[in-house]
Formats: sequence, structure tokens, C-alpha cells
Amino acid sequence: MTEESKKAEHGIAGQVQGAEENILLEVKELKKYFPIRKGFFKTLAGYVKAVDGVNFFIREGETMGLVGESGCGKTTTGRVILRAYEPTSGEVWFKDRQLGRVNVPSLDKHELKGMRQNMQMIFQDPYSSLNPRMTLLQIVGEPLLVNGVARGSELRDRVAELLRVVGLRPEYMIRYPHAFSGGQRQRIGIARALALNPQLIVCDEPVSALDVSVQAQVLNLLQDLQADFDLTYLFVAHDLSVIEHISDRVSVMYVGKLVEMAETEELFGHPLHPYTEALMSAVPKPDPRYQAERIILEGDVADPANTPSGCYFHPRCRYATGLCKEKTPQLRELRPDHYVSCHRAEELNLIGVTAAVITYHDVVVAEPQAEPSRPEAAAVAPGDVQITYIEYDPPGRDLEGEYVQLENKGEVEQDMSGWVLSDLGGHSFTFPEFTLSPGAGVKVWSKKGEDAATDLYWGWGRPIWNNSGDTANLVNGQGEIVSSYTYAP
Ligand SMILES: Nc1ncnc2c1ncn2[C@@H]1O[C@H](COP(=O)(O)OP(=O)(O)OP(=O)(O)O)[C@@H](O)[C@H]1O
Ligand code: SF4
Ligand SMILES: [Mg+2]
Repeated sequence: MTEESKKAEHGIAGQVQGAEENILLEVKELKKYFPIRKGFFKTLAGYVKAVDGVNFFIREGETMGLVGESGCGKTTTGRVILRAYEPTSGEVWFKDRQLGRVNVPSLDKHELKGMRQNMQMIFQDPYSSLNPRMTLLQIVGEPLLVNGVARGSELRDRVAELLRVVGLRPEYMIRYPHAFSGGQRQRIGIARALALNPQLIVCDEPVSALDVSVQAQVLNLLQDLQADFDLTYLFVAHDLSVIEHISDRVSVMYVGKLVEMAETEELFGHPLHPYTEALMSAVPKPDPRYQAERIILEGDVADPANTPSGCYFHPRCRYATGLCKEKTPQLRELRPDHYVSCHRAEELNLIGVTAAVITYHDVVVAEPQAEPSRPEAAAVAPGDVQITYIEYDPPGRDLEGEYVQLENKGEVEQDMSGWVLSDLGGHSFTFPEFTLSPGAGVKVWSKKGEDAATDLYWGWGRPIWNNSGDTANLVNGQGEIVSSYTYAP
């Protein structure tokens, strides 16, 4: 198949070379318009464009995060995928275990019933989503009973097993939901969703209503279940730290449209859409030296019943031009596996964040330049730079849960999770012979979030910063400055 015909058949997923066979779900130009009716005769007064031409795909076994402000259409997207709502138009291709690759909106009633065993949903509100008049046995067992999978003692055994899997005691099955806390109720909802061994679970804000301490437990449970049962998740949330924690890739929605989609680390490190940049500017950075200016979005979220012309984000976008008011941008792949719909994505240099990362240096070796005042500003000749050490402050800090990776064209060269610096008799690492070549990069990660806001240095043979007021630049392969830091006095 030629590249062009692949694109024609697979839409944006067809642009991902060789990836088609891994794609579990692909959504093409999906629309859901709700009619607005007014007056006594309920005359049609317009439409709420809740989902307005959404395109994305999810690979098998991954978690796709779906993020965006309230009312942008996340829940509606999930519901249309499961056909809890009929779409207004568009396609939802699902690689069903029994039926093969099918377009969900065109399934007949019988096929739909079969497919629904393979696609489940977990809801935000664990209080209203469980029937208060049913016991856990009835709630969790219902899908098994309705689909003729199990009954009688076999049903009880299956429900007991499902409760155990989600961390609840099997004896609880005779109780009603009111006897349980929010986190436990969410576990009941998860057990029910798992009952038929689905392929895909749409998790609609599953932890938003829970206390922060309970959120982490439920997220960890979902991650463990994913590994144990080969699950794929579409994970809806508006909290970026939750999204960053759980997602392999992230899609960003704005007023019924998908504006950006990329691998999580890529999206947080290199946002390409101004809306994503604005969302990220609100995330606290672990190191105050990198505290970017918070971007205050002027105006309200656009009304999906009265959408703006051109790019829906233009009334709030600080980079908007005349073209943005006239022409709707299309989602396109700008960096590998990184899709964006913005006319100006190539030229803008947007600021990202990775919530738990101390430093993300993406140093690309470029042409030699005159003697730089600071090594980061050095655009060095290919192959002649050695990373000699990474230095942490304070000395002896326990690095457990953190890791330092040196990457060379995507290959991890060093991984130091679990190292304790005091064991090394100092507070620096030395790397034998790590030579940066064109395209190489250095990443220093911390999983500890704000606690890890310590000084960190890396460089070529000598500390590279500690001078207040100094500015350091990182230079990309074209010799352009991609980021610039001034160290506060
Ligand atoms: N059944 C419905 N009838 C009419 N309009 C609806 C219906 N369901 C949703 N909408 C509208 O569609 C838009 C998208 O709603 P949706 O619930 O999908 O957003 P969301 O991103 O999930 O928001 P939240 O973060 O608040 O859950 C909103 O303007 C909402 O008012
Ligand atoms: S297309 Fe224009 S208005 Fe829309 S996000 Fe890009 S720069 Fe902003
Ligand atoms: Mg919602």
C-alpha cells in the first residue's frame, strides 16, 4: 500500500508508519451535535457542537490521556465511542476481539451487544454511578448474568474473584454501596467494568471525586490491572498531574476538537499548541528557577453552541493572526508521533513543563562556535563533547525513586535509579566516555516532585552554573536558542 492510500484509508493513524496493526481504536472526524430546542413548539434553534470533528487513535495496551477544560466534550467523546450516544457523523474503528476491525456506528443491535463486552466505562462519580438498591454481587455480577457468562455458584465465585482483584473482600458482596467509602465504591465500579474481560476501558475522570490520598491508590490499581489484564485505557481528566502520571500519550481537547496529541513526555516537554502551553503554565514547577510566566487565558471558553470562526482558540490565543480568524487548522504530524492543529506551530517556540522533572535538557550538538561563556551555550563540534559529571546538591541525597538518564539518540546510556550519592563518596557522578553526538540529549529526571527541588548541575568538566544573573542558552541543531535561563541573584 502506498503512503497516500494508507493515509486515505487510515486517516491520521495511517500517517504512523507500520503502526496500523497496533491500533485498537481509531476515531475519524467524529461529531456529536446536540439540538437546542426553544419555545412551546420546541423549534430547533441551533446545535451544541459537543464533539466537532475529533481525530485520534489509541494503540493496544496503552493509556491515552484526554485533557481539556470543563465542557470541551471529553465525556461526550467517550460516550459516543461506546455508542452510549449515537454520533452525528464520523467513524469509530475498533479492533474487536470477536468481530475484527469494525466501525462502531454501523454495527447492528446484535453486534453492538457483543462489542460492548469488549468496551467498558468507569465513571467520575462513584456515588451516583452505582445502583443503591443492588448488592455488590448484583452490581458486579449483572454484566455476567445479562451476557449469559455465569450464574448461580459460578457467578458468586466470579464476583468474589473480581472483588479480590480490585482489593475488596469477597464477603462484602452481600452489602450495598452505601456501606463503602468513595475509593471503595470506585473499586466496585472497576470490578464491574472488568467483569467481561474488556479490551478497552473509558475511564471518565475516575479519581476526580476522590481525596488526593485515595486518588493515588486507585490510579495504582488501574495501572496494575492494565498490566495483568492487557487493558487499554482512554483516560479522561482535567488534572495534568494525574494525566502525566498515568498516560503513555496525551490528547488535548478544546471546544469539541482535538488540538494536540503526543507521547506524554514529548507533550509536556515540547508543547506545540498555544492552548497546551497555557494549560501547562499553570502547573507548578519543581524548581523555582524554571518558573515560567503563568499564561492567563483571557475570555471564557468558547461556547460550543456558538463557535468562533477559524481556529476556535483564536479569541483567547496570544499568538493569533488574521489567518487564525479565517481558516480552521487541521490536525497534522509535525514531529514524530506528535500531532497539532495550529497554523503557527512551526514558528512558535512554546514553553512546556514536566511536573516531576528537575531539568530536561535537550542538547543537540551543532556546528562549532566561538568560545562560549557558558558550556550550555556551546554549539560544539559533533563527537567532541564528553559529559563528565552530574552534580547534585545537597551531597548524600538519597536518589531512590529518581533516575538520571543519559540518552544518545533515544538509547538510554546510564540509568541510576536507586543510587545513593553518599555511597559514592561525594556529590557528583562521573561518566566514563559519554560522548554527545549530533542528536544526543541529556535528561535528568526526578520522580519526587517538589521535594527534589535541589540544585543540579551537569557539564563538561566543571560546574556550569552558579553565577547569579548569568544567562545560559540551549542551542538546537540549527544553532537557534531553544531556551534561555537567567539565574536569579
Ligand atoms: N445530553 C446533552 N444534551 C445537550 N448538551 C449536552 C449533553 N451532554 C453534554 N452536552 C454539552 O456538550 C458540551 C460538552 O459536554 P461534556 O460533558 O462532554 O464535556 P466534558 O469535557 O466532559 O466536561 P467536564 O469536564 O465538565 O466533565 C457541553 O457544552 C455540555 O453542556
Ligand atoms: S491557529 Fe492561531 S489562534 Fe489557533 S492556536 Fe494557532 S496561533 Fe493560536
Ligand atoms: Mg465530563
